[in-house]
Amino acid sequence: MSDASPSALTLQPIGHIRTGKHVKFQALHQPSEQHAERNVLELLPGHNYEQALQDLAGFSRVWLVWWFHRTTTWRTQVYPPRGPEQARGVFATRSPHRPNPLGLTPVQLLGIEDRQLILGECDLVDGTPIFDIKPYVPAYDSFPDARAGWIEEVDALMSLPPQFTVQLSPLAANQAEWLRTQWQIDFQPRLHELLARDPLPHRTRRIKRRTATLSEIGCGAWRAFFTVEGSKVTITALDAGFPGRFLTDPLREDLPDCAAQLAFLGLWPQPPQ
Ligand SMILES: C[S@@+](CC[C@H](N)C(=O)[O-])C[C@H]1O[C@@H](n2cnc3c(N)ncnc32)[C@H](O)[C@@H]1O
Repeated sequence: MSDASPSALTLQPIGHIRTGKHVKFQALHQPSEQHAERNVLELLPGHNYEQALQDLAGFSRVWLVWWFHRTTTWRTQVYPPRGPEQARGVFATRSPHRPNPLGLTPVQLLGIEDRQLILGECDLVDGTPIFDIKPYVPAYDSFPDARAGWIEEVDALMSLPPQFTVQLSPLAANQAEWLRTQWQIDFQPRLHELLARDPLPHRTRRIKRRTATLSEIGCGAWRAFFTVEGSKVTITALDAGFPGRFLTDPLREDLPDCAAQLAFLGLWPQPPQ
């Protein structure tokens, strides 16, 4: 028998998670547990996974090992979304853009119902394939005194109060209210949190300058335009993230919030100048 290691390994998902978060913008960078949330891991039928779950109920947390299935490229250096725009070696980050895009997340285990695990807050988008579940064991898995490299510096920055105040123009407030009431789409909390911290251009936070005074930030399937004066950020308008020709293209039927974006463009066809 050869002891050469195989050049490729095959893994089969054991199930998929339902989080209701359909775009990456909605998923947190790491689970925070400040938000009460209920997510469901549905294990696949036909493998006796019910037996494999025996004895797990006594653990209040589990590790999920999963696949960043929405990521198709990897890079040696990435720009983490938190903190100043600075490249870091991918192995010193939790970025999805890895040679083997494996994710690792500790989550609260709230219950087990047949082949379903009821889980707390997590950072996975809806439909993410899960490869494994392991119990979280504080005695083995927790090292509170371990050094955390550059993340300690960023955490120190993030613990300071936000430097900017964020307000909506009457148009943006009207658009946000329309999205919330007509389509149950609300990306305002995340948008405000990001802009209150740092509205400067940043590739991973998808912030770029449009003109000398107007900037733009991508928010999943949507985008927002804003100005910055001193420490005051004003969101001047919202807009669909995709052009009308993409939204009506039958080959791109999977675009998130497609119907809502088309309706939005019907009401507000002109992107702000
Ligand atoms: C920074 S990663 C950390 C993931 C995991 N906790 C880890 O440390 O390996 C979390 C981000 O991955 C992205 N994400 C979540 N599910 C994904 C998926 N299935 N495919 C690609 N990206 C995903 C979301 O943008 C989320 O904010």
